[in-house]
Amino acid sequence: MARRKYVVGNWKMNGTTTALAEARAIFAAAGEHPGVDVALCPPFTLIGAMAGAVPGAAVGGQDCHSAASGAFTGSVAADMLVDAGASLVIVGHSERREGCGESDADVRAKAEAALAAGLSVILCVGEPRTVREAGGAIDYVLAQIAGSVPDDFAADRLAIAYEPIWAIGTGLVPTVADVAAMHGAIRGALAARFGDAAQAMRLLYGGSVNGDNAAELLGAGDVDGALVGGASLTAAKFVPIVAAAAALG
Ligand code: PGA
Repeated sequence: MARRKYVVGNWKMNGTTTALAEARAIFAAAGEHPGVDVALCPPFTLIGAMAGAVPGAAVGGQDCHSAASGAFTGSVAADMLVDAGASLVIVGHSERREGCGESDADVRAKAEAALAAGLSVILCVGEPRTVREAGGAIDYVLAQIAGSVPDDFAADRLAIAYEPIWAIGTGLVPTVADVAAMHGAIRGALAARFGDAAQAMRLLYGGSVNGDNAAELLGAGDVDGALVGGASLTAAKFVPIVAAAAALG
């Protein structure tokens, strides 16, 4: 099955309204590559402004709460993201799994809430360095998938992002063979659980993707796109990654 390439920028805790010019430039350039789906996930505070500044653009959150409303100081519900103009959300990023103590069950509940609100989901998984070095990366990631991917969803509305923790923001990347092995294992586990629907789910690689390594990493087997942090903050760095995805079709 042909899956459209998907390149998503995760701005993390970066960006104020002055950064909207970069978002405009990114989406304008992305429009020249209609074969690639491009999305940006800015901080919550910029979602409404970015969605307003670039009509039709895919703008997303970086997290949501699993509850619809209530006494959860500092949290944002999936419906609120939709209300602000978001069409997608990242859940389970390692900076939240590790930094905020989110479990697989938490991530699954967030994904379920997001899907119920009508958002598309990018669900992140990935192993720490010690696990990779001990040879346990695939088992670790497949356990995360088993515990955090919901049972019931439209396959084209949930993407998995494989992001080895040791590759995030470090400039280190796995070998193409390791990426292909991991993505193949993820696809196999999804196929065992969801049957043919697994062929419609997109699997992104994330961790130190840049304009120089994007073609190689996105060309690995079963890689359908990239989740990009640092290199998504400017059009100059992000657009070459979109172009690399476009060249791969
Ligand atoms: P990075 O971040 O591209 O800066 O390594 C990726 C991510 O955390 O999604």
